[in-house]
Amino acid sequence: MQIKFYQEEEQVPLEMHKVRVVQKLFLRPIEERLQCIKEAGNNTFLLQNKDVFMDMITDSGVNAMSDNQVAAMSIADDSYAGSETCNRLISALEDVFGTKYFLPAHQGRACENILAETFVKPGQFTLMNYHFTTTKAHVTRMGGSVIELVRPEGLVPISDDPFKGNFDIPRMKQIIKELGAKNIAFVRIEAGTNLIGGQPVSLENMLEVAQICKENGIMSILDASLLQDNLYFMKMREPMCKDMSIKEIMHLLGKTMDIIYFSARKLSFSRGGAIISNNEDYILKMKEFIPLYEGFLTYGGMEVRSMEAMAVGLRETLDFEYISQGPQFIKYLVDELDKYGVPVVKPAGGLGAHINAGAIVPHVPQSQYPAAAFATALYIVSGVRGMERGTLSEQRNPDGTERFADMELVRLAMPRRVFTLSQVKYCADRVKWLYDNRELIGGLKWEDEPKVLRFFFGRLQPIGDWQEKLAAKFREDFGDSL
Ligand code: F0G
Repeated sequence: MQIKFYQEEEQVPLEMHKVRVVQKLFLRPIEERLQCIKEAGNNTFLLQNKDVFMDMITDSGVNAMSDNQVAAMSIADDSYAGSETCNRLISALEDVFGTKYFLPAHQGRACENILAETFVKPGQFTLMNYHFTTTKAHVTRMGGSVIELVRPEGLVPISDDPFKGNFDIPRMKQIIKELGAKNIAFVRIEAGTNLIGGQPVSLENMLEVAQICKENGIMSILDASLLQDNLYFMKMREPMCKDMSIKEIMHLLGKTMDIIYFSARKLSFSRGGAIISNNEDYILKMKEFIPLYEGFLTYGGMEVRSMEAMAVGLRETLDFEYISQGPQFIKYLVDELDKYGVPVVKPAGGLGAHINAGAIVPHVPQSQYPAAAFATALYIVSGVRGMERGTLSEQRNPDGTERFADMELVRLAMPRRVFTLSQVKYCADRVKWLYDNRELIGGLKWEDEPKVLRFFFGRLQPIGDWQEKLAAKFREDFGDSL
């Protein structure tokens, strides 16, 4: 529970841990930052971390581990086959999710590759509350397609809906009737919808979706990568979870879903990935791909030390104080931005704060990637590295036309236990300055556009000299401050 302050009117998140190892940060002057973003092809993914002050591009694989995780890494059993590390991980998974079977993979998208390759046939559909970039890429690579079934509320940037990630149940039933169950490869439930603001899904909705799957003989798959924050929101916002322990919720999910997979870079604050299930048949179907693509069945491309950290991290997911820190820090940032009048997705979700760049720069058309432009501008004025989650993160339609995103967001992910509150305040302060100078932000155009997952390594150019003008205005306002 949140600890109340005597003096502060607003809720201040209080860390229930202390920091014992630190890493030095550097903040380059704005002129250098301008140069760095040019060299990075105006793609924040291509910036060098040494040139970044606050790296908020993701919370994947960059969360601070606990002392127990680091300690566990030193007892890793480094053997190719039959390692004790693997046994310890299997018992942690069984303890936390109540599932019997486990397939290892080197990260979340590797699980998606195996799931798509095993279960998606050309022409089939997959139903999801919302797609994730790598998930969709794997499904479409196998000739399948994705149908999104998030409720309309999920796409409303500002609302007080507690579970904006929920499936639209009537629509789901309708779509199954229209397409026919045999044409649906699986239904994928993403706990904490990544691309629409890290918004959670209620336990009730997850169970209902799984029940509909059962009735129709369709496989239910839970992407639990973002489950940790989702568990926090279930506990905080959902009446049916109030008296359930986190373990009870996780066991219920383990029992109900046909398959669960996750990126351990997120869930468990470690590295790697896992597919788990109580259904032996499904596991046997996927099993042969593990040695083919990932590695032997006891490590699947993971480093044993990461597997030890994963086992401990999974158990720590059951600790409410541990899992509260992320959502509370995210809410703090969202509240600061909101107070400043910056359009930001509300209510605060998991993963990070999501700035509604589309609403900030309506003068930049979607064809000029407003969210990507905002992300470059933010780096220039602050050294904060965020991630575009808008049209640039989409795949083009098969006919080559642009698929305009539902929302043009810039995500400021919150690596857990990594930043202090004053750093978070600095970030909010610079976003506010940029918001007040938003008319200076212009668009971007392609210099080099990759065909697949273009947002990762594509290169762009600013349209005109708006970035120089922005830097000049910063100097005018901030003098010789960094
Ligand atoms: N599913 C979800 C919901 C994710 O957020 C991610 C990764 C994956 C699957 C893929 O896992 O990275 O281990 O291969 N999200 C990262 C992010 C990349 O920054 O949001 P992965």
